Amino acid sequence: MTPFVADPVYLNGQFLPLNEAGVSPLDRGFLYGDGVYEVIPVYSRKAFRIDEHLKRLQATLDGIKLRNPLAAHEWKSVIFKLIEAAPWDDQSIYLQVTRGADDKRDHAFPPLSVPQTAFAFASPLVTTSAEVRAKGVAAITVPDLRWSRCDLKVVSLLANVLARQEAVEQGCAEALLIRDGYLKEGAASNIFIVKDGLLLAPPKTHLMLPGITYDVILELAEHHGQPLEVREITETELRAADEVWMTSSTKEILAITTLDGQAVGTGEPGPYGEKMWQWYQDFKNTVMRNG
Ligand code: PDD
Repeated sequence: MTPFVADPVYLNGQFLPLNEAGVSPLDRGFLYGDGVYEVIPVYSRKAFRIDEHLKRLQATLDGIKLRNPLAAHEWKSVIFKLIEAAPWDDQSIYLQVTRGADDKRDHAFPPLSVPQTAFAFASPLVTTSAEVRAKGVAAITVPDLRWSRCDLKVVSLLANVLARQEAVEQGCAEALLIRDGYLKEGAASNIFIVKDGLLLAPPKTHLMLPGITYDVILELAEHHGQPLEVREITETELRAADEVWMTSSTKEILAITTLDGQAVGTGEPGPYGEKMWQWYQDFKNTVMRNG
């Protein structure tokens, strides 16, 4: 157990302490980044949209031609057991499946007899502090250097890692990925903008991860009558936006108030983001916490 990873963790059918969980150095997740993952938020010990997360996991597995080692009901029982054993009420559950460890290194898939590696653990869900939320965060833009299946939640995250690190080195919280003049998403978040009261969201294509939080925001916008357009957003529109938000299962909704050193809108979190954050909190407390 560490302050960030609860005991037990799940590894290949077993629940065991983190310091007893080991994976072969020949594991293809280690050698090739050949694997997939999911991050599921848990509120009051209820996994939020677990079916949607397991569906996205399956879509990613299908996308990389990797068999799912567990049926949905088996994943659920692993997840529920991890949640129950962890000391926190609000958690995030991390799941990972790799193509396992062969007895040699070869790019092509190993024989079907090589079992996949399945790993899962619970962490505390740390939400953004009120002080950070009140000011918003700074972000940079970077060229999107990822491959062209960004809709798959794969563990090969090097381009995302380098983009986020570049942001951190510039004292920023997130890097916004620009491809061919269009805003795609953040290094580990989806991005929304607001212009003249209209909420704009980039569409789900193979160049963006279909976020579960993204779906919640579209649903909340529709439910509350917030004008919304889902369409490609140019870099020019991004820079002229009144508000920019980043969203994810762990960050929820967070205003980006400085972009590449320039103020976004007034330079403070805007009214639309505040409203959406409140809708999200209400939804969390009335729906998510009740399962
Ligand atoms: N990342 N886009 C990217 C590239 C992401 O990595 C994430 C989430 C999202 C938001 O998806 P969701 O709303 O389902 O969390 C969008 C997770 C939290 C991570 O990698 O830790």
